[in-house]
Amino acid sequence: MNKIEANAFVLFGGTGDLTKRKLIPAIYNLYIDNLLPENFFVASVGRREKTEDEYKKELEDAIKKYSRNSFEQKKWDKVSSRIYYYKLDFAVEDGYRDFDSYLKSLESIHETQGNRLFYLAVGPEHFATIVENLHKNSMTKQSTGKKSVIIEKPFGKDLESAIRLNEEITKVFDEENIFRIDHYLGKEMLQNIMVIRFANAVFEPIWNSSHIDHVQITSSEQMGVGDRAGYYEKAGALKDMVQNHLLQFLSLIAMEPPKKISTESIRDAKVKVLKDLQIYSNEQVYENVVRGQYGADNEANIKAYRDEDRTDDNSETETFVALKLNVDNKRWKGVPFYIRTGKRLKYKGVQAVIEFKPNYPSNYNEYSGNIEPNQLIIRIQPQEGVNFRFNAKKPGEGNDILPVNMDFCQNCEIGYNSQEAYERLLLDAMKGDKTLFTRWDEVMYSWKFVDAISNAWRKEKPDFPNYNPHSFGPDAANHLMERDKREWVNEL
Ligand code: BG6
Repeated sequence: MNKIEANAFVLFGGTGDLTKRKLIPAIYNLYIDNLLPENFFVASVGRREKTEDEYKKELEDAIKKYSRNSFEQKKWDKVSSRIYYYKLDFAVEDGYRDFDSYLKSLESIHETQGNRLFYLAVGPEHFATIVENLHKNSMTKQSTGKKSVIIEKPFGKDLESAIRLNEEITKVFDEENIFRIDHYLGKEMLQNIMVIRFANAVFEPIWNSSHIDHVQITSSEQMGVGDRAGYYEKAGALKDMVQNHLLQFLSLIAMEPPKKISTESIRDAKVKVLKDLQIYSNEQVYENVVRGQYGADNEANIKAYRDEDRTDDNSETETFVALKLNVDNKRWKGVPFYIRTGKRLKYKGVQAVIEFKPNYPSNYNEYSGNIEPNQLIIRIQPQEGVNFRFNAKKPGEGNDILPVNMDFCQNCEIGYNSQEAYERLLLDAMKGDKTLFTRWDEVMYSWKFVDAISNAWRKEKPDFPNYNPHSFGPDAANHLMERDKREWVNEL
């Protein structure tokens, strides 16, 4: 295990939603679990004028609301004594020199040895500007301590802008010091996929087109866009969820066994899947990709997406996507992958279903009852676990068949409180472990696939809104499956 370095955690976007919901609660929980280095502080940068006390009060409220460990004043006092707020317009170069001096004064108090981990929790349009300004002001010099950068998703808004952004960032940081974060990779059960597949003799031999009928991945949310429409209007579900989280999820399910259990071998195996994704023509997009946007539910007092704060009255931004895709290689020949994700849906949950082909001896038709295909369901959240659905004999007389479940629930035990994705990822970045971060080529191939869809969509006007809150999305998403004589598994 790599050692955790002394570190200054320099957080751009210090007053933003991500900082309050995820990053500061993660720091607080890491502190409680004694996982932070002794020499550590957080310098939060925001554009708003506020005193340090005001800022810390906001963070305290956020921890009370979002932290997995409950709030304890004494512990928070210890953590918050290492948190600082600095007002800076990060788009303007003036100001960075003073900020650097300020950081140096904190570095000497906390003895962080010049190691700086910059976190860009800001809109993607600001990534390059911040990195450039840091560089111009000599704030990223490796000669005075290790400097790394964590970049939030989406990395760019299409392939072209991602290439440009990557060029800008790699002028300043080596790939070695760039952490492109995709918090799904920090989720406990996503990390478990490789173990489930490769450490169990019963799965890997049948993990291929001879035995698997199809794979379906669902990430369903009950919440709407909330106060993030400023960002979401430009992203939509395709770029917010599919390009990153869901394609990463898929690559773990579809990858070949990595040559070694090492960062680069695992990334090599994942990138091969993304490279093998079939890129759709416009016609194939219209046939295989469904987009949706939620309408209102007046009785439940739920606004339509178009009526949310900061959305356009005629917004064409999708809040739902369902698609069928092919991984064009030997292992997956003829096996469709279905993906769906959306906001304001009936349930909150993330899971993958691997459905096996019905390879029964023909005389099994003589049994009565419901013989059903075997399904392996990997549940990511809220329940973390694995469910295997298989056929058994119904107890009693006769030859009836009954599908039953074998259930492993990792977080059902009382007292089990699994580490949040951001905790694991922040820790890994402090250790310099890049296994759970995306490499540039993974980002590039994901954009190639996604660009074909957004380009085709741009040519057609969507008929929005087209689904009701608390539903499973637009009817067309069900048709995508029904026409293949399959169906979505809706128990999440
Ligand atoms: C974020 C997206 O990356 O992931 C959000 O920007 C989405 O729109 C969120 O709500 C979902 O993450 P989680 O961990 O709550 O499933």
